[in-house]
Amino acid sequence: MAATRQPDNSDSQFYQPAEQFFPANSRLALTFDDITLATLYSDILPRDTQLDTTLAEGLRLNIPVISSDMDTVTESRMAIAMALNGGLGLIHYNMPERQQLSEVSRVKNHVHGLIQEPIQVAPDQLIGDVLAMIEQKKFGFSTFPVVDKKGRLVGLLSGHVVKPRYAKKKISEALTPRSQVHTVKEKELGKDPIARADKFFTEHIGIHKLLVVDDQDHLCGLITMSDVERITQERNAQFKPARDARFHLLCGAAVSATRNAFGELDRERILNHVGALVERGVDVVAVSTAHGHSKGVGDTVKVLRDEFPKLPIIAGNVTSAEAVEFLAGCGANAIKVGQGPGSICTTRIVAGVGIPQMTALYVCSRAAAKKKVAILADGGITKSGDIVKALTLSQAVICGGIFAGCNEAPGEVIEISGKLYKQYRGMGSFAAMKAGSAARYGQPKNPTQKVAAEGIEALKEACGSVDRVLAQLIGGIQSGMGYLGSANLTQLREKARYTRVSPAGMREAAPHDVVELKTGN
Ligand code: XMP
Repeated sequence: MAATRQPDNSDSQFYQPAEQFFPANSRLALTFDDITLATLYSDILPRDTQLDTTLAEGLRLNIPVISSDMDTVTESRMAIAMALNGGLGLIHYNMPERQQLSEVSRVKNHVHGLIQEPIQVAPDQLIGDVLAMIEQKKFGFSTFPVVDKKGRLVGLLSGHVVKPRYAKKKISEALTPRSQVHTVKEKELGKDPIARADKFFTEHIGIHKLLVVDDQDHLCGLITMSDVERITQERNAQFKPARDARFHLLCGAAVSATRNAFGELDRERILNHVGALVERGVDVVAVSTAHGHSKGVGDTVKVLRDEFPKLPIIAGNVTSAEAVEFLAGCGANAIKVGQGPGSICTTRIVAGVGIPQMTALYVCSRAAAKKKVAILADGGITKSGDIVKALTLSQAVICGGIFAGCNEAPGEVIEISGKLYKQYRGMGSFAAMKAGSAARYGQPKNPTQKVAAEGIEALKEACGSVDRVLAQLIGGIQSGMGYLGSANLTQLREKARYTRVSPAGMREAAPHDVVELKTGN
C-alpha cells in the first residue's frame, strides 16, 4: 500500500489538487504545457506501476493508450500492434463499410493460437496456381494444408516445394501425404491449446505446423510454432495484449452519424453496419464527430444503445460538462474530450471554438465522475509527460500524430532530401473529407473548395514500429507515476497536484544552454 502523506502548509499553498487548482484558474483555459505536476513521497518503483484501465463494463485495456480513428493512423495493422501492446486501435470510417468490416476481422482473427480457417489448397491445383495466389494475396507463408472437395485432409503442401521450377506440377504430386502429416483431434486440444501445441512442438523436432482435425478427418484448424512462441512470450510480458474473453485481440471501430438523402439520421444503415461489426467481434464502437454535443450524435448513441444494450460505446468530441451529461444520458460509456487540440487541427482557427485540453478535461471529468462514464483525452499529445498530465483527469488518451509516422500506420514512406516521412492529415482536411469523413464535420458528402476545412495535410517523420514508440511512452508514464507515488492510474488521479508554469518555466523544462548531441529518444 502506498503511504498517503498530507502535504505541509507551504506545499498545499502552492501545489493544489484538481478541485482547487482548476476552479482557481477558471478564467484562463489551460493546456498541457501551462501546468506541471508536483512530485510526492513515493515507495513505488516506476517498473512496478500498473497501467490497466477500464473504459466500460467488459472493456479493459492493459495500457491507457488508444490510436485515433484517422485514415492516416488506424487500420488493422495499427489496431493489431496497439492491442498486442495492451492498448486499443479505433479503425477509421473513411472507407467503404465492407472494407471496415474486413479490417475489424483482420484484427479479431490475428494470432489467436488456433487459425480456425487456414488457407487451403486442392490436390488437382498446380503449384503455379499457389505461387500466383501468394503473390496476389501477399501471403508471408507458403505451406498449405491440402484438402479434398469434402474438406477432408489429404496432405500438406510444404513451402520447400512451392517453387517456380515446379510450377507445372500438380499439388497431388508434390504434397506430403496424409499418413506423414502431424495432426491433433480438435477434442484433444483441451482448455489450453497453446500449452498442448507447445508440448507437441518440443517433442517433435523440426515440425513447425500442427493441423487440427475432427473425427471424420475434416480440417478444422492450424497451429504454427511461431504463433505459439509469440503467445508464450506474451504471457511473460509486463503489459499483456488486450484480448477479449475468447483470447482475440481487442478492436474498436469508428462510425459516423450517417444521414440519408433527406438529411435525416439513417438509422437502418447505422444499425445494419454496427450489427455487422458486432458479428465480426468488434469490442467497442466510437461515434466520432467534431461536435458530439449535437442531436445527430445523441440520437445515434441512443439508437445503438437500444439495439445493443451491452456494446461499449465511445462518443464525442466534447469539451463541456453539459455535453458529457448529454452523451452519458444517451447511453455512451466513454466520452472523447478534445476540440481543436490535435496537431493537424484548425477547428479553433477556422471556427473560433474549442478549449485548451487540461481545462476541458477537468470540466468534463467532474461531470463524468457523477455519471460514471470514462473520459478519453483526445488530441494534442506530443510527449509522454502530456499523457501523465492527461491521465490525472482521464481514463485513457487517444493519439494520432504520435503514431502517424509508425510503420504500422497506413500509407507509404516518402523520402524528401534524404529524410523519411509518412503522410498525416486531419479528418477535417479537404482531402480526408473528399475521401468520406465530411459527415464528421457536419459538411456535405462531396465538399467543394467552398467548404471550410478544419484540418491540414501534413507529414510526420517516419519513426519505426509502434512497439518502439509505445515503449518510450509507457516508460514515461511509469516514470511520472513513480514521481507521484502512484501504483496505479486510480492513485494517479487521486494524488495529482498542479501548479502553473510561466513561459520562462517552460523554457527551463526543455534542454537549454547546451549543444544537443542526441535527443532523448
Ligand atoms: P493529435 O494531436 O494526436 O490529434 O495529432 C489527433 C486528434 O485530432 C482530432 N482530429 C481533428 N481535429 N480537425 C480537427 O479539429 C481535423 O481535421 C482533425 N482530424 C483529427 C481527432 O480527435 C484525433 O484523434
